[in-house]
Amino acid sequence: MTAATSWKSEKVTMTELNGKRKPFARIAGTGKAVPETVITNADLEQIVDTTDEWITTRTGIKERHIVRRGEKTSDYCTRAAQIALTDAGVTAEELDFIIIGTISPDMRFPATAVFVQEAIQAKNATCWDVSATCSGFLYCLYQAEALIALGRAKKGLVIGAELLSLITDWTDRGTCVLFGDGAGAAVLTEATDERGILSTYIGSGGDASHLLYSVGHGSAGSTSSGRELAGERLLYMNGNEVFRHAVRIMDKCAMEACRRAGIHKGELDWLVPHQANARIIKATAERLGIPMEKVVVTIQKYGNNSSASIPFALDDARREGMIKDGQTVLCIAFGGGFTWGGSVIRF
Ligand code: ACO
Repeated sequence: MTAATSWKSEKVTMTELNGKRKPFARIAGTGKAVPETVITNADLEQIVDTTDEWITTRTGIKERHIVRRGEKTSDYCTRAAQIALTDAGVTAEELDFIIIGTISPDMRFPATAVFVQEAIQAKNATCWDVSATCSGFLYCLYQAEALIALGRAKKGLVIGAELLSLITDWTDRGTCVLFGDGAGAAVLTEATDERGILSTYIGSGGDASHLLYSVGHGSAGSTSSGRELAGERLLYMNGNEVFRHAVRIMDKCAMEACRRAGIHKGELDWLVPHQANARIIKATAERLGIPMEKVVVTIQKYGNNSSASIPFALDDARREGMIKDGQTVLCIAFGGGFTWGGSVIRF
């Protein structure tokens, strides 16, 4: 049995070691930034052999936001960060860290996070990126919570950001209809009461790396400049195979995150799943016994934003008055790698 098809429990989190669901860190503010340009399913009908009917019924997506040429991932991270900081009442100078989950960074190096540091003048922050595809935001949250729990940081910024349109094969109808661009941010501070992150959980299954990848400018690409293939730069996905694993792994993430938080799924007010496909979301909710009225779904307006999907959904749900103070939210994600994660958060 391989890692992608098996399931192993990891060691317990610090939250558990210190007992009784006491949160160390909380999400004090959220923000998001999406490009102005909206591409509808009808627009895509002009580009590839597809229909609004196929995209809607197979994915749930109606439209997505796509960047203009020249715009960078850090531009959107910066905007989302500024909104989240204002929401949290935290200044950039107070930040101890900025962590960005992205597979579409500004450059190979330096990390996109340092461009954001400079843009918002977060002079006291240490900054780095995490490559974990659609689980990127939850991987960052995991690290951020640990830093605060260990007493190594008090405040920080966690961002999920992707401009996947820049690595999309616009001739491949199987993938180009799926993705959208933008950045979502959350400001983390020390928890002072019962509100906060009750658990974080992440995992990986490297045996599935061939199902979803982009060689990009990585060392696995063509070595001779004469035979560099444009296709290698772009995102490849075996959607069918990925789909097969997604529901089961999302389900397990949910159970593990709840177990670590010490709560029963019946105590959840909201499920915020990664937004890859409305059918995956629905099937996951059904398996967990969570009614769709308690599931935050944003895929119809943004598509799949990879690591930005969960912070988009959190921000929209908070601003639209769905997620209220004191409510308990389960976030779960799954993506290329495979990577996966779950987190229970009390707002
Ligand atoms: N329009 C019309 N027809 C299409 C399109 C399209 N845009 N795309 C594919 N088709 C066709 C296929 O060619 C195929 O035709 P055929 O039967 O004649 O061969 C048929 O539709 C069915 O294709 P499938 O690939 O089996 O379609 P499926 O129902 O699996 O949907 C999808 C494809 C939406 C990609 C789905 O598999 C999926 O959501 N997969 C999981 C995605 C995911 O979770 N990714 C992880 C996160 S992303 C990340 O980490 C970056």
